Parts: sequence; C-alpha cells; structure tokens
Amino acid sequence: MYPDRVLSGMRPTGKLHLGHYHGVLKNWVKLQSEYECFFMVADWHALTTNYDDVSGIEKNTWDMVIDWLASGVDPSQATIFIQSKVPEHAELHLALSMITPLSWLERIPTYKDQIEKLSQKDLGTYGFLGYPLLMASDILLYRGNLVPVGEDQIPHVEITREIARRFNHVFGKEPGFEEKAEAAVKKIGGKKGKLYQELRTRYQQEGDVEALEAAKALLGDSQNISYGDRERLFGYLEGGGKMILPESQPLLTEASRMPGLDGNKMSKSYNNTISLREDAEVVTKKIRQMPTDPARVRRNDPGDPEKCPVWQLHQVYSDESVKEWVIAGCKSAGIGCLDCKQPVIEGVLAEQKPMFERAQPYLEDPTLVKSIVADGCERAHEVAKETMRDVKEAMGLSYS
Ligand code: TRP
Ligand code: SF4
Repeated sequence: MYPDRVLSGMRPTGKLHLGHYHGVLKNWVKLQSEYECFFMVADWHALTTNYDDVSGIEKNTWDMVIDWLASGVDPSQATIFIQSKVPEHAELHLALSMITPLSWLERIPTYKDQIEKLSQKDLGTYGFLGYPLLMASDILLYRGNLVPVGEDQIPHVEITREIARRFNHVFGKEPGFEEKAEAAVKKIGGKKGKLYQELRTRYQQEGDVEALEAAKALLGDSQNISYGDRERLFGYLEGGGKMILPESQPLLTEASRMPGLDGNKMSKSYNNTISLREDAEVVTKKIRQMPTDPARVRRNDPGDPEKCPVWQLHQVYSDESVKEWVIAGCKSAGIGCLDCKQPVIEGVLAEQKPMFERAQPYLEDPTLVKSIVADGCERAHEVAKETMRDVKEAMGLSYS
C-alpha cells in the first residue's frame, strides 16, 4: 500500500566511533541505495535523559552529522534531518498518546533497566516514559515500515507496530465496516465461519497469536468469497479497517559486533574506542598500547590469539593469509606483538582515509552541512505534513 521506506535515528552523542560505523552506519550506506531513506538526529530523545544539561546538543548534532557524511551517507540519496525541526514529531507524539496504554510503555524492558542504571538522574518523568512513543511517532510519521536498529531497540519497533495497529483499529474504520465484515463471515459459510469467529475472539481477547495465524490460513483457503471480502476479513481479525499507519518491522543487521581496544564491545562508556576521524598518530598509539595475551610477558613467550583482543580486530581488518601468519607467529613466538598489531593499524588507517577525505569540505565550510540538513528538514517536513493531515482527519480534527 505504501512504498518500502526506511527510517532510522541516532541521539546526538557527538563524534562517533568505529563501533557506530561497523554497527550502524555501514548499513545505512548500503540501505540508501536500496530504499528511500530518512536518517534523523533524535535531539528530542536526547532531552528525555539529558534534560539537565543541554549545552552539548548543538555541537553534538553537527559533529555527528559530519560523521554520517564522512561514513558515506549521501545527501543526494538519503534525507538527513533533525527531529526537533519538524514539529509534526511532537504533534504525532501527542496524538498517539491518546490511545497508548500506560502499561505498554511501562512493560518495555529498557524502561526499568535504564531508570536503575541511570539512578543518579530522576527519570521518573513523563517524557522518559514516553521515549518509545516518541520513537513510534518518528517512524510512523514517515510511514516507515523498515527500521534498521540494534537488538536493544527491537521492543521499541514492536510497540510501534502495536500502536499503529491500535490507531488503525480505533480511527481507521470505513463506514459500515463491521456490518460488511459480519456479512462476509456469513458468506464463508457455517462451520468455517464459526471457526473464524472463534479464532478472532481468541486473538482479540487473549492475544493468542496462534489463533490469528490459524484464522489467516483459514481465509487463505476459502474459495467462496470475493477479494474485497477477504481483505475485510483479514482486517477484521486484527480489528482494523483502513490502514492509516503501516505496521513497521525491525531490519536487523547481520550482527557485526565491533570489538574495542580491550576486547569488550566498543563503547564510549568502556573508554575503549577509536573515533571515526581519530588522528593517525593517536590511532597508532592506542593500538600499540592494546593489551595482548597476558601469557606473552617476554618476546619469546608463545601466546594464544584466542586470549588476545588484538586478534578480534584481525577478524575485522585482516584477510586469511594475515590471520594465518598471526596464529603461527603468535603460537611459536615467531612474531612480536607489535609486529602483529601493525596490519591492524594499517587496516584502521585505510578505513579512515576516505572518511577524512569526505569530511574535509564540511570542516572547511560548515555552512555546507547546515544547508544539507536544511534541505533534509524541508523534505522530511513535506512527508510529515501529509501523514499528519491523514491522522488529524481520522481523529476528527480536520475542521476549520
Ligand atoms: N532510540 C534510538 C537509539 O537510542 C534512536 C531513535 C530515535 C530511533 N528515534 C528513532 C531509531 C527512530 C530508529 C527509529 O538508538
Ligand atoms: Fe595478540 Fe598478536 Fe601478541 Fe598473539 S602476537 S598475543 S595475537 S598481539
């Protein structure tokens, strides 16, 4: 019904690191040539947890967008924009809040986790509880059905789907939809019609997903109903009529876990990162100082790559022949750890070279970045306005 469209976002955390590149940005770059893509700076989201210190938002936004561009996100293919510059995000958030049960928000696993983890902050706020709903608004505003996110964000995409479904159910009915659907049930005929009703009730009252699947299968092999009636009966199962907001789904990247300098996942909070545009000397120094297999105290002590964080980086940056050289040289103490690190250093520097080149014009002339984002905001706004028009019409707010 709507074309495939990708929406994703990142909170403005400032300069990005290679973990962001391998985990997210590389995938965005691939997606931008396959789909219509919207990539958003989630600055409202930053405020849900950092409302007590807003000083960094602006700089972090521009630093982050430059890193997107440096990674190869291409403004002639994808729309890059800022959430707070498109006021419809806030408007849709309010609209959807009318039909979002509190319990759906409270049961999101990250909600209680984060409150505990960030216990030095008061996150008992309305805004923080609404974090997933704001994210749902981001997605639904562009009728984005494909959402590339990491594993931790999947519950948010799931709740987005439930909210869309509920919205369509509450506001999307065609006139006389229920009567038409009931009439269609009669047309399927006695036993099957009855079974359809039973399964529908089970799904709607108990959320029994197997019942839903069984009912769909039953419709699939009913021959004696028209195409329109079949569509109605599919819609009737899940409650809805007309689909105003499409149901989104997460697009999982093939798990690329980028190891950090200490072997843990690369993350700012572990202080083990290499930033995307880290100075070559610093990169070299950081890698040369990486811990290795503790058994290799002296140059002559043999080691085991499996116990070494450098080996994990070889998985990202080295080809088979280098990896064989590492295994043999490490186990026989034939190579030193600094020798072993050299190809990793070169791999990182080679990866960063085009990033520096792409970033250069934007660093020299920051107005280029601003105009890319201004264009993106305008394009995003056009789409957002259309969705909001339909949403308000369905909610009885389109009078003048
Ligand atoms: N919550 C996401 C994160 O922390 C960022 C985000 C905001 C987002 N809105 C979004 C991601 C919409 C995907 C789609 O990573
Ligand atoms: Fe690690 Fe390489 Fe040293 Fe072996 S030789 S311990 S793999 S850095």
